[in-house]
Amino acid sequence: MGFFGILMQVTRWVGVIILLELAAAEISFPIALPNCPYTCGDVEIPYPFGLREDCYIDPNFYINCTSNSFGKTQPILPKNITVTSISLEGQAEILMYIAKDCYEQGVLDPSIWNMVWLNSPLNFSVSNTQNKFVVVGCDTYAFLKGSRQNESYTTGCISACGSTRDMVNGFCSGVGCCEVDIPLGLKQIIVQSKSFDNHTEVTNFNPCGYAFISKQDTFNFSIASLLNLRDETMMPMVLDWVIGTETCEDVANKSSYACGGNSSCINSNKSGYLCKCMDGYRGNPYLPDGCQDIDECENDDSCKGPGEKCFNIPGNFTCPCIEGYHLDRSAGVDLCVINQSSLQVKLFVGVGISFIVVLVCSSWLYLIVKQRKLIKLKQRFFEQNGGLILQQKLSKQENSTAIAKIFTKEEMQKATNNYDENLIIGQGGFGTVYKGILPDNGIVAIKKSKTIDENQIEQFINEVVVLSQINHRNVVKLLGCCLETQVPLLVYEFIPNGTLFEYIHHESQASTISWETRLRIAAEIAEALSYLHFAASPPIIHRDVKSSNILLDSTYVAKVSDFGTSRLVPLDQTQLATMVQGTLGYLDPEYMQTSQLTEKSDVYSFGVVLVELLTGKKALSFDRPEEERSLAMYFISFLKDNRLFEILEKHIVKEGKAEHLKEVAHLAKRCLRLKGEDRPTMKEVATELEGLRKVEMHSWANVDSNSEETKFLLGETSNSYKYNAINKSTNVYNSVRDHVIFDLDDGR
Ligand SMILES: *[C@@H]1O[C@H](CO)[C@@H](O)[C@H](O)[C@H]1NC(C)=O
Ligand SMILES: *[C@@H]1O[C@H](CO)[C@@H](O)[C@H](O)[C@H]1NC(C)=O
Ligand SMILES: *[C@@H]1O[C@H](CO)[C@@H](O)[C@H](O)[C@H]1NC(C)=O
Ligand SMILES: *[C@@H]1O[C@H](CO)[C@@H](O)[C@H](O)[C@H]1NC(C)=O
Ligand SMILES: *[C@@H]1O[C@H](CO)[C@@H](O)[C@H](O)[C@H]1NC(C)=O
Ligand SMILES: *[C@@H]1O[C@H](CO)[C@@H](O)[C@H](O)[C@H]1NC(C)=O
Ligand SMILES: *[C@@H]1O[C@H](CO)[C@@H](O)[C@H](O)[C@H]1NC(C)=O
Ligand SMILES: *[C@@H]1O[C@H](CO)[C@@H](O)[C@H](O)[C@H]1NC(C)=O
Ligand SMILES: *[C@@H]1O[C@H](CO)[C@@H](O)[C@H](O)[C@H]1NC(C)=O
Ligand SMILES: *[C@@H]1O[C@H](CO)[C@@H](O)[C@H](O)[C@H]1NC(C)=O
Repeated sequence: MGFFGILMQVTRWVGVIILLELAAAEISFPIALPNCPYTCGDVEIPYPFGLREDCYIDPNFYINCTSNSFGKTQPILPKNITVTSISLEGQAEILMYIAKDCYEQGVLDPSIWNMVWLNSPLNFSVSNTQNKFVVVGCDTYAFLKGSRQNESYTTGCISACGSTRDMVNGFCSGVGCCEVDIPLGLKQIIVQSKSFDNHTEVTNFNPCGYAFISKQDTFNFSIASLLNLRDETMMPMVLDWVIGTETCEDVANKSSYACGGNSSCINSNKSGYLCKCMDGYRGNPYLPDGCQDIDECENDDSCKGPGEKCFNIPGNFTCPCIEGYHLDRSAGVDLCVINQSSLQVKLFVGVGISFIVVLVCSSWLYLIVKQRKLIKLKQRFFEQNGGLILQQKLSKQENSTAIAKIFTKEEMQKATNNYDENLIIGQGGFGTVYKGILPDNGIVAIKKSKTIDENQIEQFINEVVVLSQINHRNVVKLLGCCLETQVPLLVYEFIPNGTLFEYIHHESQASTISWETRLRIAAEIAEALSYLHFAASPPIIHRDVKSSNILLDSTYVAKVSDFGTSRLVPLDQTQLATMVQGTLGYLDPEYMQTSQLTEKSDVYSFGVVLVELLTGKKALSFDRPEEERSLAMYFISFLKDNRLFEILEKHIVKEGKAEHLKEVAHLAKRCLRLKGEDRPTMKEVATELEGLRKVEMHSWANVDSNSEETKFLLGETSNSYKYNAINKSTNVYNSVRDHVIFDLDDGR
C-alpha cells in the first residue's frame, strides 16, 4: 500500500468518525425531516429548509448544495444566494455583493458593478436589527432601494472627504464612511454606488466608492478600507425568514400551521410567524414531531439543595425530597429538611453498628488474650505441679494403661460441673472432694487440696505414680491427676457409701452393724495396710489412718483412702524423720515424741480404729470426761480393770463369742502399745484378724461344724504362727482365749 492508499484509508476512517459524530448529534434531537440530509458542507440545514424535494417546506426554502468555482461545497438559496448559516430563530446569514464605483483617471471602470441586488423570495427580508447600510469613499453617494409592505422604499448615504486626515479608524463617522439603519421588512433590495466628480480629486487614496449591507460589527472601517475594499466582493449579511404572511391567531386552525408539538407560535414583527419550542423543550419546532422534552436531571445544576433528588417531568423537573427528608415551606422557598426521626434512626443505627463492631472486636481480642493467658497459666501450673516430671516418669512405665492418667483442666471442670457446690462430698482441712462424672460416664471423686508445698513437688509426683499403681481391693484407687490448676487435683475411684466414721457413729445405724461386719471391715483395713507396708514397692506409710479415712463401697467393703500425708519409705530405710502429722486421737505417741515415722505408727492408728469398731465410741471426744477423752487410753484402762464388756458396743457383746471379742480387744491393745517395737506388724494383725474371721464365719455358717472342715480352714491359714500349734478344732477357741488372757495379763 502506497502513500496514496494510506491516505485513502485515513480519509475513510475520518469520514466514518464524522458520520458517527453526526449520528450522535442526531440522537440528541433531529433538525431535519426523517431520511433528509441536514448538512451541506459545514452548514447545518434545519427544516423548514431542505436539500431536496420533500425535505423543505416549499421551494422558496430549497437549498441547492453545490460546489462553487473553488470546489467548496456551499448551500445556495434560490436566486443564487450563498448561505453561511441558518438559525431556527428565523435568521439566515448569507453573502451579499459589494457595489463598487471605480474610476481609472476619471473614467468609470465598466467591468466592476456599481449596482447589485438581492432578488430573494418574499419569505426573506433584510434583518433590520442586525444589518447596516454602509457607504465608504471620499467622493461617494449611494442608494439602498427595496420594497416594504408592497411599497417601494429608498434610502441613501453620502460620504465625502478631502483627505484622510479627519478619519478615525474603527469609527464610521461620516468622514470617508457613512452608515444608515435598515428599516423593518425590507425585501428585494438594490444597492447602487455613485460619485460626484469621478474620484478625480481623491484618486490617489480612494479610486472607488463602495456601498453594501453588512452584518453589524463585521465591517470595521479604517483608512486602509478606502483602498482595500476594492479586492473584496462580498460581505456577510443577515436575512430574516418567516412562515407565511398571517398571524398566529389566523393560522392556528389551518392545515398550513407549521409549528409542531410542544412548540408555540410567535408573531413576527414583519408579516408571518415563527415557531418556538416551549420552555423545557428543545429541538426543531417546525418538524411535525415538534420539540423534545429536556431531561434537566442530566444537568448537575438541577436540584442542588440538600436532600433533593431530581425528577424529570414533561417540560419541567421537580426536586422531591429523598427518603429521610421532608418538604419545609416555612422559609418561603421549598427546602428539603432532614427528618428528625430518620436522623435519630441514622445516628442510632450508626452508633449501634459501630458499637457492636467495637464490642465484637474488643471481646474477640479480650478472649484471645485471655485464652493465651489461660494457656500460659495452665502450662505454668502444669510445670509448677511437676507435670513434666510426671510425664517423664509415666513414659518410663511399661504398662501404661494401669498407671495414672493426666487429666486436663477442662475435663475436670466438665466433670465437676465447674466445681458445683452441690457435688461436694467431703470437705475438711485437707481440701475439698467433689463427685465428678467423666466423659465415659465413670464416676470419680476429685480431690482439690488446699495448698501444696512447692519443695515437695517431686515427692508428690512420685506418690502419684506409686499410688496409681496400687491395685488392691481395699485401697481406694487413684485414677490420675490434673496439674493444670493452681493446686493439683487428684482423681480417685468413687466410693459411694461414705466413711467408716459416719457408719459407726451414726446413731440409728450403729446398732445394726453386726459383729461379723465389724470384724470383716477390720480385717479388710488390716489387709490394705499390710499390703501398703509390705507388698507395695516402695513401702507406703499411710500416716493418717482413721475411721474417717476408711471409705465403704456399695457392699460395705472397706477401702483405705486419703494418702494426702502418706510417705513413701525408701527401700533402705525403715524410719523417716518428718514433721509430725496426723489426727489427734489416732496419733502414735512415740512418733509424736520422736518425730521418727515408722510403719508402726500406722499400726497404732489402726489399733484406735479397731477400738472404735469394738466400742462404737469416737477416738477423741470432748463430750467425755477429761480422763476418757482419748479412746485409746480409756479403752486400755478398762481392759486393765477387766471391764472389757462394759465398754464394748452392747449388741456385739450379745452377738460375738466372748473369746473372740477378747482376742480382738487384745489385738487392739497390742497395737496400742506405747513402744512401736512392741506392736505387731500389720501383716501379723491382718493374718490374725483374717483367721478369726474365718473361724467365726465357720461357726456362723455351720454351728455343728465337724473337725475336718475346721482343720481345713485352719490349714488354709497355716501361715499364721498362732494356728500352727493348734491341733484340735475343739481346742481352738480355748487356746485363742488363753492367748488373749495371757496377753492381757502381759499388757498389765
Ligand atoms: C443547482 O445548482 C447547479 C449549479 O449552480 C445547477 O446546475 C443545478 O441545476 C441546480 N439545481 C437545481 C435543482 O436548481
Ligand atoms: C451565482 O453566483 C456566483 C457567484 O457567487 C456566480 O459565479 C454564478 O455565475 C451565479 N450563477 C447564476 C446562475 O447567477
Ligand atoms: C464622469 O464620467 C462620465 C462617464 O465616464 C462622464 O460622462 C462625465 O462627464 C464625467 N464627469 C466629470 C466631472 O468628469
Ligand atoms: C403588491 O403590489 C402588486 C402590484 O403592485 C399587487 O399585484 C399585489 O397584490 C400587492 N400585494 C399586496 C399584499 O398588497
Ligand atoms: C476596528 O479597528 C480598530 C482599529 O484597527 C480596532 O481598534 C477595533 O477593535 C476594531 N473593531 C472591531 C469590532 O473589529
Ligand atoms: C413564501 O412566500 C410565498 C409567496 O409569498 C408563499 O406563497 C409561501 O407560502 C411562503 N412560504 C412560506 C413557507 O411561508
Ligand atoms: C380554532 O379552533 C378551535 C376549536 O377547534 C376554536 O375554538 C377556535 O376559535 C378556532 N380559532 C380560530 C381562530 O378559528
Ligand atoms: C410533547 O412532549 C412530550 C414529552 O416529550 C410528549 O410526550 C408529547 O407527545 C409531546 N406533545 C406533542 C403534541 O407532540
Ligand atoms: C419585534 O419588534 C420589537 C421592537 O422592535 C422587538 O422587541 C421584538 O423582538 C421583535 N420581534 C421579533 C419576533 O423579531
Ligand atoms: C417548572 O416548574 C416550576 C415550579 O413548579 C415553575 O416555576 C416553572 O415555571 C416551570 N417551568 C416550566 C417551563 O413549566
